[in-house]
Amino acid sequence: MLIKRPPRIASSEITPEPIYRARRQFMRQSVALGTAAIAAGAVGGAQAKPSFVAKADVASPPWLRDKIAGAAADTSEINDTLTPYEHVTSYNNFYEFGYNKDDPAKHSGSLKPHPWQVEISGEAEKTGTFDLEDILSKVELQERVYRLRCVEAWSMVIPWIGFELGSLLKQFNPTSRAKYVAFTTLKDTKQMPAQGSAFGTIDWPYVEGLRMDEAMHPLTLLAVGLYGKALPNQNGAPLRLVVPWKYGFKSIKSIVKIEFTEEQPPTSWNISAPNEYGFYANVNPKVDHPRWSQATERRLPSGLFSPNIIDTQMFNGYDEVASLYRGMDLKKYF
Ligand code: MTE
Repeated sequence: MLIKRPPRIASSEITPEPIYRARRQFMRQSVALGTAAIAAGAVGGAQAKPSFVAKADVASPPWLRDKIAGAAADTSEINDTLTPYEHVTSYNNFYEFGYNKDDPAKHSGSLKPHPWQVEISGEAEKTGTFDLEDILSKVELQERVYRLRCVEAWSMVIPWIGFELGSLLKQFNPTSRAKYVAFTTLKDTKQMPAQGSAFGTIDWPYVEGLRMDEAMHPLTLLAVGLYGKALPNQNGAPLRLVVPWKYGFKSIKSIVKIEFTEEQPPTSWNISAPNEYGFYANVNPKVDHPRWSQATERRLPSGLFSPNIIDTQMFNGYDEVASLYRGMDLKKYF
């Protein structure tokens, strides 16, 4: 993870939450209209797609758009201003597409998120490889507004569309030996060109893991969308993890495999630099990274004249997870 100068962004570009809410209602109606238009096109000739349907949505299959349009409204009580869509989708870490913040948005067009399958394996009664469509047919989508805090000390506030990871894991009846859950990103140098680079610091594929109780916590999401649309490739289409009380590197993107394990699984950044990135990676203002103080963070958008520096909160403000770590030395298990 490299240090980059923050882009200069006027605070006037921030989308206030009420405007997004109103827009979201509008988008739901638009998606329904768009689907009807496509269906009509199938029987009555081509029809122009409504111009307000985002690029990512046009590329995603109708079943996914319908599913997202039916997501239950957010009930979280976060009052933070949302980070505008443009910033959420253009300032990314997705090293499979390059190391600069704008590389994923520029280069992730080669990723083909549909059709997509996920392998479920390991310590569970039921295992196998499943189509994403089947997986999603068995879960309820919800919108959740979460803070995302990167270990590089920047943060965003994102309205995700997703479902509780626990609601999926339970369907496979994990055995009593399942103590951890391991996740793997796609490995394919054709779709993810930077995996073929000789200069990378990551041994591909990107891997991550959670302890079973962390994976089952109701805050832990698998996301398929944001801002009421399917996930853009640069944000981890078609399926990514979101663990809001942990540093962003735990939120692995473009997942192809979920495995129940007895032992703590290896994780990409921990393999690369074990003294810098731990397995737990809980947001903690009192435990600094060797290169970045974690006491404060830059809430995006931020610029030279409005850096938007705020205090970092323990567990990123999600106090309800504190009981998962009772009695643990969080300096040792960072
Ligand atoms: N997942 C994969 N497969 N590859 C990555 O490089 N980067 C991580 C995480 N998930 C990464 C990944 C890091 S360091 C962060 S901070 C978040 O994704 C960034 O998510 P965002 O780009 O949607 O903001």
